[in-house]
Amino acid sequence: MQPKSLVNITDYGRDDILRILQSAAKFKQSPNRDLLQGRVCATLFFEPSTRTRLSFETAVNRLRGRIIGFSDAATSSSTKGESLKDTIMMVSNYADLIIMRHHLEGSARYASEVSPVPVINAGDGSNQHPTQTLLDLFTIYETQGTLENLTITIVGDLKYGRAVHSLIQGLSHFHPTFNFVAPDELGIPEKYKLYCDRRGIKYNEYAEFSPESINSADILYMTRVQKERFTDLMEYEKVKNVYILYNDMLSESKPNLKVLHPLPRVNEINQDVDENPKAYYFQQAKNGMFVRQAVICDLLGIGVE
Ligand code: CP
Repeated sequence: MQPKSLVNITDYGRDDILRILQSAAKFKQSPNRDLLQGRVCATLFFEPSTRTRLSFETAVNRLRGRIIGFSDAATSSSTKGESLKDTIMMVSNYADLIIMRHHLEGSARYASEVSPVPVINAGDGSNQHPTQTLLDLFTIYETQGTLENLTITIVGDLKYGRAVHSLIQGLSHFHPTFNFVAPDELGIPEKYKLYCDRRGIKYNEYAEFSPESINSADILYMTRVQKERFTDLMEYEKVKNVYILYNDMLSESKPNLKVLHPLPRVNEINQDVDENPKAYYFQQAKNGMFVRQAVICDLLGIGVE
């Protein structure tokens, strides 16, 4: 039998998600513990990362575990032609858990199927980023006091944004209303609309970043246009600055509104938003470490207490 992995946010049901958020809250109170003494975790990053890799590695360090891995696939034997399967088999000889980011959609599922140790998907192409969603949900709960019945406006690259795809599925347990704001070229894929339709989840689609889409929201989730997913850079140039949030656009927003972003940002949130108390993206990124501590312990069957 394969060990439990986290590849898609749908691998965790509602109760699993709530359990992870509860554990993460405990780690936020007290992040330095001896829970991973003697354990080794591998971070295999075939694509660049700042937050995800460093927060995973800090999570392990603060639990007294050890980290091996690479942050640049060019330094691994994949450049000599070693297959993903062989890489995973080798690393599982050394590590108790594999955390992997890869440019190919489905690579994390494949890795989890061949790996004798748990695999955490740290992002596979445009597909999924489940630990981003768990930290987003933690942050939404932290700022709103609930996950239920919220209006979430998601802005930007809804086609290629893996954080968006996971977030829609992760929030689906909690009766959200979505406002999807995207240009035609970067609209939400049909499969996620179908996912919402089948669950009776309400959504509106906008091509304009209208005051209505901002002022009706509890959470304004801004995203970057994913340059690395475009095959034609002229197409990227056309849409790269399609929506930019400026501070004065928040003047009529709800008092409880928080602006989130998975980061990195490019131009889509002007720096004049940073000083607004409604800007919460840096605190959101910090929460990633606590949530990842919770996920690692969960998959290794280690109790938090
Ligand atoms: N949010 C996120 O995945 O950031 P990184 O690409 O820096 O890991």
